[in-house]
Parts: sequence; structure tokens; C-alpha cells
Amino acid sequence: MLVSKVKYIQALGVRCSSSHYVTTPIFYVNAAPHIGHLYSAVIADAHCRYQRLRHPERKVRLCTGTDEHGTKIQQAAAAHKVPVGQYCDEVSARYRDVFRAAGIEHDDFIRTTEQRHKQAVAHFWHRLQSRGHIYSAAYSGWYCVSDETFLTESQLRLDATSGTRYSLESGHPVEWTEETNYMFRLSQFQDDVRHWVQQEACIRPAKFQKILLDTLSEPLPDVSVSRPANRVHWAIPVPNDDTQTVYVWLDALINYLSSLGYPNEQYLADWPPAQQIIGKDILKFHGIYWPAFLLAAGLAPPQQLHVHSHWTVDGQKMSKSKHNVVDPVQAAQQYTMEGLRYFLLREGVAHSDGNYSHVKALRILNSELADTLGNLLSRACAKSLNPQQIYPEPHVEHLPHLLHDVDAAKRLQEALLQLEGRCEQHYEGNHFHLVADTAIAALHAANNFFECAKPWELKAGGSSPNPPRLQTIIAMTMDALRLCGIVLQPMMPQLTSRLLDKLNVPTSQRSWRHLQESFATTTTSTDGVHKNRQLDEQSSAHLFQRILEHQNKPAEQQQQQQSLSHVKRTQSKKERKTTTRMS
Ligand code: MSP
Repeated sequence: MLVSKVKYIQALGVRCSSSHYVTTPIFYVNAAPHIGHLYSAVIADAHCRYQRLRHPERKVRLCTGTDEHGTKIQQAAAAHKVPVGQYCDEVSARYRDVFRAAGIEHDDFIRTTEQRHKQAVAHFWHRLQSRGHIYSAAYSGWYCVSDETFLTESQLRLDATSGTRYSLESGHPVEWTEETNYMFRLSQFQDDVRHWVQQEACIRPAKFQKILLDTLSEPLPDVSVSRPANRVHWAIPVPNDDTQTVYVWLDALINYLSSLGYPNEQYLADWPPAQQIIGKDILKFHGIYWPAFLLAAGLAPPQQLHVHSHWTVDGQKMSKSKHNVVDPVQAAQQYTMEGLRYFLLREGVAHSDGNYSHVKALRILNSELADTLGNLLSRACAKSLNPQQIYPEPHVEHLPHLLHDVDAAKRLQEALLQLEGRCEQHYEGNHFHLVADTAIAALHAANNFFECAKPWELKAGGSSPNPPRLQTIIAMTMDALRLCGIVLQPMMPQLTSRLLDKLNVPTSQRSWRHLQESFATTTTSTDGVHKNRQLDEQSSAHLFQRILEHQNKPAEQQQQQQSLSHVKRTQSKKERKTTTRMS
């Protein structure tokens, strides 16, 4: 009976919405944005950009914003001696600025202090109440202000010396609280929520589905959804009872609806979300409370939660007290914002925590963006090899010869033939690191082909001049750069746009279906001369500047850097030699 209700509600949601609605969590304004926050937003942005690229007919909508109510925001404003409203404005603006700089292409940036949101919360509350899911009760328990949640004894650790209890999960202190609250009948939704969680691919990666199912194997207690207004006054008042304010998590979760104009029926055009991106620390709120609230209000729960793990810094949890919080603006000064986006998506995996380290970032960005991608573009565009500055068409008689004579040409062709299918599969699962692996492997194959084909020997005045063969080599190399550029657009929109601009690829030819057009698929029908494309003189062929080892290097990493620098020096000497030989 319950199961069929869920199915019915979901069918309703799926029928109503033809759009692909994606959300990030809304970010607390008690502190400035750090790379962990940016990570949630970059995943959502890359996901949406891929959806637009792959399904240009689909309406894709991305919503992000800031979570501005509750005690900890009140306390943060007081600590800064700023009125709380002004404090929220300032920190919210910082999030907006960082997201703009990082190319997060959101359709809406919602703030929970906005009127449209307060109206949505009031409506949602009425709906829960009128359907009989809210009741008033005396409540007591351990409350964690930092996590804005009540915790049971089994979720706490007692520090015997101080007598203070701490949340086992987050490590934050809790306080004993006795008050009259409104309660939500969470216990009644246990079976419905379990059914939702059990659906295939509803919670990804699967390890987080298992965590939710473990929680759901114990009876769910009802949950408090209000606080006395005299304790928490920086919050939305409970409709018709101004002695109480709405629990900040209920308030915050409703942002996903208010962004769509809820309760105005227009929200149905996008509801339910196709994908909600969240960090693992907020799994319980999105994987248990949220579907229960929605089902109680008669709304479809989201189609999928994509849960990501956390960033540690040099192996340690990021925290203000450890002074190791990484500011994305500062990191972007070292790596560029595109470099930072690439590093986060290339190095982060959803199922386990990633370690953020300067050494690692430097190694990845230099080897993949500067040496593998950037260097190949510079070489293919070098005036000495390409005096006409063109993106040539392969010559029909040379292409089969090259594919036959040069093993590396065949390997490049195979890599390019697999690029589309593999990247599509990886993007569909938000496995950005695998997309990068696949594209970089194709670029390695292209570099290798370039080396083996020795184009510098074929130029006019060279030992065995053969301009048509030379042009074919450049054409094949540029095809590889173009296809990898198209594939990497969701991860690095600006850098790939500069790459495709340089190759003079029209915007209308940068979509997913254009991955099918290259020497790799069309080896016979080229006509040799007429489709040569002039390179764009205005765009630079230098895509990504190698980052120097000592550039803004954090002090504690100097030692590690010194031991690496010997290896790097030897490498770059070798590289200089190769580059001189080529040009
Ligand atoms: N305001 C709540 C979310 C409400 S959504 C209805 C909140 N805000 S938060 O600012 O603390 O976190 C926002 C996002 O940043 C979460 O997805 C969280 O997991 C993510 N991160 C915070 N620290 C992180 C790391 N160190 N690493 C990766 N992501 C992390 O929770």
C-alpha cells in the first residue's frame, strides 16, 4: 500500500517534469567559502554542462545558494560585531563571487532570508500540518548547534575530564535542551523512505545507500521541526505560532522547492530534481528527512542523490583551528581557477576522501595541462611546422599510409574512437576522474604519435620534405586536441574554449555529436585542400603556464618540494632538449 503510494507519486513527478533539475546544498554563511564548498558546486556545474552538451534539447537547471538561518549564523555575526542581516549579505556575496570566478553556471542563487523562500516554507508547513504530520510535544535531548541537530546517547562521546559530550560523527560539542517543540511524524515514513532508498541508482555511490539502509534498519524516532523563538530567533517563524521558529534543516531543504517558485504550480515543470549533489556529512538530512518531508507533503522525492566524500589537507580534516582551510581564491592564484576546477574533479572520487596537497596539484596540472595538452597545442601551432597557420584537412592519400606505417597513429585512432563512448559512460556516473583519465590517455597517444611521425623532418627545407604528409600529421594531431577539448568542456569551460578558439572551431561545432567527426572515423572522404581552416591569430597557443615549484608554496611543503626538484630539473632539461629539436 505504502509502496504503491511512493510509485504513484514518483510517476506523477516524472510525468510532470521534462527538465533536468540539479541542486547543490545551500552553503552556511557562518564562514567564508573553502575548496570543499567549491567542490560540491563544481561537481554540479560539470554535471549540468555535460547534460547540456550531450542533450542539447533538454532543459537543464542548476540551483545553488546560501543557508542563512540558525544559532550558528547568529553567533558568527555576533563574533564579527556585525548585524546579522548585514553579515549574511556579506558572506553570501562571497559565495556568489567565488562561484562566478569558478564558472559555476547556475540558473538561480537562492538565499533562505529571501521573501520567496519564507513564503514557500510557510506553505510547506501548512501542508504538513493540514495532512496531520505535525504535533506539539515536550522534547528533551542533546542538541548540537554546529550540526543543527539533536543526537541520541549512542551518537555521542563523553569527555571524562571536562564532562562535555561531543558528536561522534562531527566532533562538535552538544548541549542538553528541554523545550516544547513541534514534532514531525518521521516514524510513519520509515517504509516509504526505505522503498525510495532501495531504488536502483537512487543513492550513489552505493556505499552511501548502504549507510542509509543501516540507519533505516532501526526504528526512526519522530523529529523536532521547531525551536522556541526565544532560543533561536534568527529563523522563520512557525505559521500562526510566533513562540516557535522553523527548524533550520526543514527551512534549508525547502530551498530546493522555493527556487522553482513553489507553491505556485510552475514548480511542477522542473520537479522532482533529477540529481541533488551533497557531501557525505549531510546524507541523513537528504536521504531520510528530505524524502519523508516530501512524501508527507504529497510531493515526489528526488530521482537521485549524488553523494561525495570530503577533502582533507595534507591528510588532515580542514578546520579553522588547524589553520589549514584552503581558500579557493588563493588557490586559484597559484593554479588558475580552471586549474583548480580540473584538480578537484580529476583528483576527487565520490566514494572516499581526497587529499588536497600543493605537491599533488602541481604535479597533475604541470604534467597534464601544461605538458600533455598545452605543449601539444603549441607544437602543432608552431610557425616553423605550420607556417600557413592552419588546421589542415588530412590528405586522403597520406592518411591510410600513416595509419599503416606508424603504429602510434593506429593507437591514436583507437583512443579517439573510444573517447566518446567511454567519456559518456563516465560522465553519466559523475566519474570525472575517469573522464580526465580517458582524455589524457588520448592526448598521450597524440603526443606519442607526433613524436613517432617526426613532422619536423617533413617541413620545407627538411631532410625529406613532404608537405602533404606533414599537413596530415598536423591535422590528426589537431583532431585529437579538438576532440579532447570538446570532451573536457564540462570540466574546464574556459580553458577548452580558448583551445577550441585557437583551432577556430565554430561554437556550433563543439557539441557532443561533433565527437564523431574526425580522421578516426572518416579516413577516406577528405578532399585534401578545401576545408583547411585558418587558426585564430588572436588566440594564444599557450593554454596553461607551467607552475613553478616555488610559486606561493606553503612553507611546510618546502622540504618535500626540494626532494622533488632534482627530478623535475632533470626532466625539464630533457624537455627543453626535445622542444629545441622539434622547432
Ligand atoms: N547548509 C547545509 C546544507 C543545507 S542543504 C539544504 C550545509 N552547509 S555547509 O556549508 O556546511 O556545506 C555545504 C557543502 O559543502 C556540503 O555538501 C558539504 O559536504 C560540503 N563540504 C564542506 N566541507 C567539505 C570538505 N572538507 N570537503 C568536501 N566537501 C565539503 O551543510
